[in-house]
Amino acid sequence: AEETVELRPLTVALIKPDAVADGKADDILAKLDDCGIDVVGKIETTLSREDAQTFYSQHQGTDFFLQLIDYMTSGPIIALALAAKKKGTDVVAQWRTLIGPKDVTIAKEEAPESLRAQFGSKDEEFKNALHGSDTSEHAARELAFFFPDFHKKRQATQPKTTRV
Ligand code: PPS
Repeated sequence: AEETVELRPLTVALIKPDAVADGKADDILAKLDDCGIDVVGKIETTLSREDAQTFYSQHQGTDFFLQLIDYMTSGPIIALALAAKKKGTDVVAQWRTLIGPKDVTIAKEEAPESLRAQFGSKDEEFKNALHGSDTSEHAARELAFFFPDFHKKRQATQPKTTRV
């Protein structure tokens, strides 16, 4: 049987190592349906340092880069490809809103309903449980990184633009 290719716009989420280790992944996944999000791809993997440095290359040179790489390689993560249930929704922005501010302390104060407020670490404010692509360009790059076959199939079904 032929597989159908998901053509809705997608974003990429990561359930980060401490959230996976603390057994929060199932609770997080169970919430997504209510949030208007469909999970269309899911893989569990452990990032090598090289993988993590590539994935977060835009943050190379920042004062938090080493800490970020240490954190993201500290155990298994779950990568998700997400689509909005509601047609026409900007899923990149929708997911960023759902996860809330990156700093867990601020998330708890300013967006207590957000997923980072609910699932972030109690002890360390940057252990925020979840990642979301920040733009549709980065979402495409992150989809290619974690779901290369999926990405290729989508590319193949995109209409080709021809110059005449
Ligand atoms: S920036 O400066 O606005 O571009 O950075 P930002 O997008 O807010 O954060 C980029 C990612 O780095 C994570 N981060 C950290 N991780 C560990 N330690 C510290 N101190 C730290 N500061 C920022 C932040 O959570 C973002 O991770 P992702 O996975 O993209 O959510």
